[in-house]
Amino acid sequence: MTDIKVPILDLKAQYATIREEVQAAIERVMESQYFILGPEVEALEREIADYSGCKFGIGVSSGTDALLVSLMAVGIQPGDEVITTPYSFFATAGAIVRLGARPVFVDIDLDTLNLDANRLEAAVTPRTRAILPVHLAGQTAEMDPVMAVAERHNLFVIEDACQALGADYHGRRAGSIGHLGCFSFFPSKNLGGAGDSGMVVSNDPALADRVKLLRNHGHRPKYYNQAVGGNFRMDALQGAILRAKLPHLESWTAARRRNAALYRELFLKAGLASEDPARRAGMPVVLPAEAGWGRHIYHLFQIRARRRDELMAHMKAQGVGAEIYYPVPLHLQACFADMGYRAGDCPTAECAAAETLALPIYPELTTAQMERVVQVVRDFFQDSAE
Ligand SMILES: Cc1ncc(COP(=O)(O)O)c(C=O)c1O
Repeated sequence: MTDIKVPILDLKAQYATIREEVQAAIERVMESQYFILGPEVEALEREIADYSGCKFGIGVSSGTDALLVSLMAVGIQPGDEVITTPYSFFATAGAIVRLGARPVFVDIDLDTLNLDANRLEAAVTPRTRAILPVHLAGQTAEMDPVMAVAERHNLFVIEDACQALGADYHGRRAGSIGHLGCFSFFPSKNLGGAGDSGMVVSNDPALADRVKLLRNHGHRPKYYNQAVGGNFRMDALQGAILRAKLPHLESWTAARRRNAALYRELFLKAGLASEDPARRAGMPVVLPAEAGWGRHIYHLFQIRARRRDELMAHMKAQGVGAEIYYPVPLHLQACFADMGYRAGDCPTAECAAAETLALPIYPELTTAQMERVVQVVRDFFQDSAE
């Protein structure tokens, strides 16, 4: 058992199960010699929009560009404020700052690692234009209070659903709840392409049309520019490959959820974690919480662990993958130093950045591999006198 290796992600294992379908998709594009936007991207736009409970999908060049073009589409200007979470991938805040706007970071809830909706209202100022909640790790933020605050103050809501394609919130799909939703198809995502791409989804025809216009330099028709957009176009190869993979997404999600349930069982059985709210925090490992408002698609399985950095080093030395998403909360990033945020401004995000550790959760993991992960964690806490 000790020689079992467990990578954090194994895309080769997935590819082995879908090789013919992906090869056929690539061949289709090569035969068509139609490489940018076009029929494959249009078909994927319909399929992802349907999958996400939206009327419109606009294929773009990355999740980062999905966020940027969405913020452009709702008219974010220099000096505007956009409320968001300090605990996310850099692009969430980067897209806001690239437009000259200010990210206003609201601390997170330690159980879900998503925006703490109770703190939202207090962050609204006369300059606030939008809220950008992130559905981190595959579980949606608490969207009812987000939408209520947005309605009261006439704000746009752009969902960063880059990690949450197929997650639900009270029966609604991630990306379909706000005005615009953003997805990433980065190769490591639950639905990942063979390179960069992303998508914006919406139920609002005017906003969807604006995103479509801005995606391609604001041309309409070509060479007649109605607005200053960019080159945010999706490649046809990504469209075709993602279409080949999309029919498998539900079974991959089910496998991720089964893996999460097995981890829970194994950690509890090993005495490393507890489900008792009174004892949970005192254990070496705190398991990720399911908020109960809809399907968690487990893009990541993030535990919180005592002596996290030492544990990660131990796991890696034993051939078990583990990663930190994310070691520095956004309000403390060096490039944002002039915004005036200080350590202590978002204590819960700072605590999460110091304690979370993502374990392998990809669909093709075997039971033996998951048992190995938990055994390596148990060995670490047993061998090191606490
Ligand atoms: C929460 C979040 N936002 C934005 C992005 C940016 O997506 P991309 O890497 O496709 O630009 C990612 C993924 O990397 C992400 O996880």
